[in-house]
Amino acid sequence: MAFRPKQITSYQAEHLSELQGDVSEKAIEYFLTLIPPFNDGDIIHDNACGSGAVTEAIMAKNPPKIHIHATDINPQFVAGVQALSEKNQWPESTAVMSAQKLTFPDNMFTKSITSFAFHCLGDHDEAAKQVYRTLKPGGVAIATVWTSMPHVRALQHAHWRTRGKEGPMPSLLPLEDFTEEDLRAALRVGGFRDISCSEKAFYLKVSDMKRWAQLAWSYLGHLPTGWSQSDEDKWDEAIDDVVEQLKSGDGITTDDRGEVVMKMIAVVAVAKK
Ligand SMILES: C[S@@+](CC[C@H](N)C(=O)[O-])C[C@H]1O[C@@H](n2cnc3c(N)ncnc32)[C@H](O)[C@@H]1O
Repeated sequence: MAFRPKQITSYQAEHLSELQGDVSEKAIEYFLTLIPPFNDGDIIHDNACGSGAVTEAIMAKNPPKIHIHATDINPQFVAGVQALSEKNQWPESTAVMSAQKLTFPDNMFTKSITSFAFHCLGDHDEAAKQVYRTLKPGGVAIATVWTSMPHVRALQHAHWRTRGKEGPMPSLLPLEDFTEEDLRAALRVGGFRDISCSEKAFYLKVSDMKRWAQLAWSYLGHLPTGWSQSDEDKWDEAIDDVVEQLKSGDGITTDDRGEVVMKMIAVVAVAKK
């Protein structure tokens, strides 16, 4: 079994929710206003669903008779969404599924939503092809990405500080930002021709930065080669460094309640088939 530092948080859906705060929620509420209202018979894909924030936002709108298929590559996240769905009796099916290997038939969904995942799901061209393939002609896809997140630089700093400058970066902390053009390009490769993008800032507020750094490093810090004994030995140093880095910098302020506020910039693409 792969080595895991003893301090690591074993990720469940609720940890992802806590890490994201209400920033995804706010962004999702916003981008749902950019597509046509939900109709009776809508079949919706919540692709790379994470902790189910998209499903939750859709269900909060009291939609008519729709059905949602929520999928993610992470079995813990899917189990969390399944539990949430059963508790709330949502019209939803869940499955562990790679965005690059969707097993749904062609032309199935009236709406397909891939929220804040294209920048971190690996082969985005193949993911876009799958979104296109599974969307009904006349259907609409939403794909959103964060193009600026202040914590990425802080976590990269902790990576270099505890592991040196040589060697690979954690795959979820790439040096190159994912841009609107990258998103458009992936959607074009996928087959979409009618794509419109908009940009909007959202603000993530964190009151307990040490706890947040622990969740962020546990999720985003792992290397393509996995965790090592040295990561365990230097765990506290990494967390303290993240906390220190997030005291100031581009896109970071502190509000009057002493909370750290991080400015995150989202790009929302609405693509029609
Ligand atoms: C930042 S989270 C976003 C979750 C959710 N859509 C939201 O907006 O809150 C990114 C999600 O992509 C999932 N993911 C990463 N690679 C994936 C892949 N190849 N196929 C499917 N899901 C993937 C992760 O497990 C994670 O749940």
